[in-house]
Amino acid sequence: MTVVADFKINRVQRSKLEDISLENIPFGKYFTDHMLEVDYENGEWKTPEIKPYQPLQLDPSLAALHYGQAIFEGVKAYKDEDGNPSIFRPLDNMRRFNLSAERMQMPVVPEEIFLEGMRQLIDIDRDWIPAKENHSLYIRPFMFSSDEAIGVRPSDKYKFLIILSPTGPYYANPMRIYVEEKYVRAVEGGYGFAKAAGNYGGALLASAEAQKKGYDQVLWMDAFEHKYVQECGTMNVFFVIGNTAVTPGLDSGTILAGVTRDSAITLLKEQGLKVEERQLSIDEIISAYEAGTLKEIFGTGTAATISLIRELRYKDYTMKFDVENWTIATGVKRRMDAIKYGKETDDFGWLYKI
Ligand code: COI
Repeated sequence: MTVVADFKINRVQRSKLEDISLENIPFGKYFTDHMLEVDYENGEWKTPEIKPYQPLQLDPSLAALHYGQAIFEGVKAYKDEDGNPSIFRPLDNMRRFNLSAERMQMPVVPEEIFLEGMRQLIDIDRDWIPAKENHSLYIRPFMFSSDEAIGVRPSDKYKFLIILSPTGPYYANPMRIYVEEKYVRAVEGGYGFAKAAGNYGGALLASAEAQKKGYDQVLWMDAFEHKYVQECGTMNVFFVIGNTAVTPGLDSGTILAGVTRDSAITLLKEQGLKVEERQLSIDEIISAYEAGTLKEIFGTGTAATISLIRELRYKDYTMKFDVENWTIATGVKRRMDAIKYGKETDDFGWLYKI
């Protein structure tokens, strides 16, 4: 594979930033001045281009629109108190992106494009990183098949892009979660571990039905017995039982290997908790709740960061929590934020300086 080092850069004449306030900005609605676009054709990546953010012109027969060969990532950039920008663990997202690419029969994106492209793009749009607590610049790398043909086969052509979106909090309040029994998200041997577009499209109906019942999101269960916890909406999920944080293991390939999940595991251990990555059944959760040992439940994700879960509903059984007095999830969030915003030293080498 040819590795491209040179980037073509075309800057905007006037920044849109003058028209936007970055305070409490909603997730995913506003985009920065520039984007990165790279084409893959005949087995090689072409010269990456950084150019003004603009619509793509696509043929109606575009393969991705028909058969869903499309993957993405979610990464975030932050500013420290002196205004220096850094990206949180982008190499881990790049590795996961390329695992998704392999699963979906797509080409691997080399570091020279994924990471260097992200770095250069953010450097150009660095003024868009909000300098405020719970705010960040959300980075969305994505790739889709771009053959203009409707035969069912892997494409010869692909497009890789990165767009940037300044954002405030994703889930502002503690959440109410519905344990999903009817629909399933992923099955062993499937592609639940991949950040493939279809995993999100396929989840919309279940979330819509849960929302109609007054819940924020669903907690997905395994596809065979509807008994073992998988993940929660757009987040991985942790249950603090006694002095142990339990989170579903990655070995069945049915959940996303979250970068925030991995960071939370590190910080929970730093707080002195035991962490178990294993199967966890809804019966065990209910027993712990009834015994008074289920202390906290929280979700982790790039967009969601650390989100507290104040209610879990399973069939007719409701588990409620007084999140006000929680210290574990809030402790993980506080420490992770302190590292991201450069207030505490980055002992784990998570920040990639721009
Ligand atoms: C993320 O946390 O980055 C995600 O991908 C969730 C999302 C689909 C908003």
